Amino acid sequence: MKKQSYLKTMVCSFLLLFCSYSIYGKDVNKELIRIETNNTTLLYIVENGNVNNYYFGAKLKNPEDYLNYTGDPQGALFPAFAGKSAIEAPVSVIHSNGVLSTEFIYVGHSSKAIDSNVSITTIVLKDKVFDFYATLFFKAFKNEDIIETWVDYKNDESGLVTLKNFASAYIPVKSDKYFLTKFHGSWFGEMKMEEEQLTHGISTIQSIQGVRTSHNFNPSFIVSLNQPASEDCGEVIGGSLAWSGSWKMTFENDIESRLNIVAGINNYASEWPLKNGEEFQGCHFIFTYSNAGTGQMTRNFHSWVRKYAIQDGNELRPVVLNSWEGNFFDFDESKIIKMIKDGAKMGIEMFVLDDGWFGGNKYQRDNDGMALGDWDVNKKRFPNGLGKVIEEAKKNKIKFGIWVEPEMVNRQSEVYEAHPDWVLKEPGREQYTERNNYVLDLTNPEVVNFVFESVSKVIRQNPYISYIKMDCNSPIYNPYAPYLDKNSQQQLWYLYTKNLYSVLDSLVKTFPDITFQVCSSGGGRVDYGSLPYFHEFWASDNTDALQRVFIQNGTSYFYPSIAMGAHVAKVPNGITQRITPLKYRFDVAMSGRFGIELLPADLTPDELTFAKAAVQTYKDIRPIVQLGNLYRLLSPYQGCLASLMYVNDAKSKAVAFVYQTQRMFGDFYPNIKPKGLDPLKKYKVTEINVLPEQAKKFTTEESVFGGDFLMKNGLPCVYWGKQGPLSINLMGEFASAVFLIEEMP
Ligand code: DGJ
Repeated sequence: MKKQSYLKTMVCSFLLLFCSYSIYGKDVNKELIRIETNNTTLLYIVENGNVNNYYFGAKLKNPEDYLNYTGDPQGALFPAFAGKSAIEAPVSVIHSNGVLSTEFIYVGHSSKAIDSNVSITTIVLKDKVFDFYATLFFKAFKNEDIIETWVDYKNDESGLVTLKNFASAYIPVKSDKYFLTKFHGSWFGEMKMEEEQLTHGISTIQSIQGVRTSHNFNPSFIVSLNQPASEDCGEVIGGSLAWSGSWKMTFENDIESRLNIVAGINNYASEWPLKNGEEFQGCHFIFTYSNAGTGQMTRNFHSWVRKYAIQDGNELRPVVLNSWEGNFFDFDESKIIKMIKDGAKMGIEMFVLDDGWFGGNKYQRDNDGMALGDWDVNKKRFPNGLGKVIEEAKKNKIKFGIWVEPEMVNRQSEVYEAHPDWVLKEPGREQYTERNNYVLDLTNPEVVNFVFESVSKVIRQNPYISYIKMDCNSPIYNPYAPYLDKNSQQQLWYLYTKNLYSVLDSLVKTFPDITFQVCSSGGGRVDYGSLPYFHEFWASDNTDALQRVFIQNGTSYFYPSIAMGAHVAKVPNGITQRITPLKYRFDVAMSGRFGIELLPADLTPDELTFAKAAVQTYKDIRPIVQLGNLYRLLSPYQGCLASLMYVNDAKSKAVAFVYQTQRMFGDFYPNIKPKGLDPLKKYKVTEINVLPEQAKKFTTEESVFGGDFLMKNGLPCVYWGKQGPLSINLMGEFASAVFLIEEMP
């Protein structure tokens, strides 16, 4: 909209409202703003020049009844820091004349359908006095029961406005009690779940490090109303921010016992100046409501992510063999060629050459302190360039992928020596590093171009490459951008993320056939902000199968299996030193986007036979695992078993996984009760991925049960004594089982 007509519309609507209000002395123009999906309603009412939130929950049959309702609203549409308001508000600004408060009034709204599933509602607010606007957007995805919201701030004041707090979303909730589930953790231990009852006051989760922003906390939460969250019943609201920089979410149980959820970009050490006519767009916030517990919440998010938030969300992912944990930095051309050959025998489909393959003329990547940023082939390891290894991959009909870390450089690199002013560095202070990395100054357009060109060059020089693993191993520890002047440093955090997104966007558009994996020391950039540019993420650098049961369980609440890289690694595990059986490691990795991260040559002939069969088994069940609907059956946090299953849309095929998490004599082993099946259908249940030496499979071909029986009674587990023919064999430490459930004609 042109500035003139934008202003005209705003002013006219405002005058109209103001007149009706002042003439009649009461509100005669109450108007509903309904944001609806198939099963939910988010309801606002325009009244007395304000917009208030009255409802968010299960779909209302007659929202018009709210026009006669005389009770209080749940809260405002979008409160700002202002005189009478006492809550933590999503927005605060310094107006051009120095005034600190903002009071929003309604200007106008509109709704339009984007297609048969998606509609967008726009609500314009303006400060009562100043020409400062906030336009709120609500994109509703009907079938997925998802709402995506964000805000644009606009300054039409004659002078400079400074945004001090610029969050994107405000959701007020009213309930008896509130229970918040957070996903905390760090490198090697991501996505640990913790639930607490919110008492009065503010609970905050945040990231303040600019990069690796889903370590510490993932930008996602579950709020359960009245009771602690459970898998299949109860009211929950799930939310997640689409922002890969510093972020913040506050949960304020206020003086009226209302819960105010505020989510957005973190204003920590930040502010944003808006000149006259300028706009600022906050990050997007994605949320859903379920009255059937966290299971339904997860399925809402998963279907939305697959359809709208990741690259090629409905295309099956290849089985990957990654070079990292099998070699670390100890490899050369012949070792990689052997790995590819051995991997081919196991049935892998994509070989990924991880860190260590590059270096310039002066430095070679022999360890993590050198050559980062010099994106030529490491001649010591690959005297023939990458030609020979790529040839081997081609010969074996395996695709080829490669690792890059384009946002960072080492001090010992040619690029840093040539451009010492390209990295974030605080004048006068010691330079802090993580893993010897200097973070590039992405506020600088020249550097942004370098990042794009680094990745492009690698792909262009090796056109057979079809997969890029994009790593970044350091937070921003030295927040000073040499490119920005000293008074603009507070813009660094926002600019870094925005410019990173612009590089990612260009890469995805320039190379539409490349599969991109996001990695940030493992799960450090697992968020809805990065997903649109990637096909998958590396969930954690921790490949210990037992810990992965927990990490993958936490990850599963918001992120679907098709995107969750999960690999079988060697034992003892490099991090935990734990030794888990090969089958257990396969069974755990097979519940995500499956891959292998060990040297096939290290496996015994028997193990290789098992591995080869298991890779084939994964390929057989891959459509169910990667595209199916997830049902969590047993949480790893309760008892000694964890279990989950995927069911296809037709409810004709399902795969269930059971993992023993601890083995203590006398522990209670519950029946495994599948979910999501059709109670009226008959299903054949077959154990798959069995070890050759396993004397008995848990069932025989004749094991046919009704869906109703399976879901209500389930199948028993045995962990000692004599195994019955219909029980799940969980004998021995780290026992696990996978079974296929198929509809019988
Ligand atoms: C961290 C990643 O998460 C690992 O998978 C591996 O790529 C290393 N970086 C390589 O430096």
